[in-house]
Amino acid sequence: MASQAASTASQAEPLLDQLYGDWWRELPTSNERLRLVASFSRPIDLVELEQLCDAVGWSRRPLRRVRKALSHSLLVVGLWRHDPRVPKLVGFARCTGDGVLDATIWDLAVHPLYQGCGLGKGLMRVLLERLRAMEVEKVTLFADAAVVSFYEAQGWNLEPRGERCVFWYAR
Ligand SMILES: CC(C)(COP(=O)(O)OP(=O)(O)OC[C@H]1O[C@@H](n2cnc3c(N)ncnc32)[C@H](O)[C@@H]1OP(=O)(O)O)[C@@H](O)C(=O)NCCC(=O)NCCS
Repeated sequence: MASQAASTASQAEPLLDQLYGDWWRELPTSNERLRLVASFSRPIDLVELEQLCDAVGWSRRPLRRVRKALSHSLLVVGLWRHDPRVPKLVGFARCTGDGVLDATIWDLAVHPLYQGCGLGKGLMRVLLERLRAMEVEKVTLFADAAVVSFYEAQGWNLEPRGERCVFWYAR
């Protein structure tokens, strides 16, 4: 299958990758110990990303539009099972925003085979670390009902006073 790679917005920052380089995890299902590589600058293979989104049950989006969305994102982070010959994307998240005042996190996904060993939480942590380093003031996200407690356990607040509403304006 043809591989379609998209460059991310933050390719000029290899140093931070070293910080986020290697994650070791034991898979809860098989007790297999794995080496994973997290990166903000390694190109995302769009076909692998589509396979990851398929695996978590998301509906498909045209790859050319996904490529554009990634290139317009403020941060894109991928998590790969470490194998230099056959990169395998097992986790992903991105955020959009102005890089100063506001950012919104989208598309956090961990492949079901790799869920339950801290990877989703880790991806959120490194994204927030990056946004904090950029001094972004406010970070928001839209959570599916099934994952509200996942975010709450990490310190996210559901809009606390019921004073704000989410509006959708769809094409
Ligand atoms: C949500 C998701 C990213 C979590 O990834 P994960 O790697 O399995 O999560 P972690 O292993 O880092 O879990 C961290 C903590 O959250 C808890 N948790 C995981 N999934 C949860 C869920 N759906 N609801 C509530 N808590 C959850 C874990 O038990 C763990 O708790 P602990 O710190 O007390 O041990 C993953 O299940 C996923 O990709 N789901 C499908 C896509 C999706 O719904 N994305 C969110 C879009 S808003």
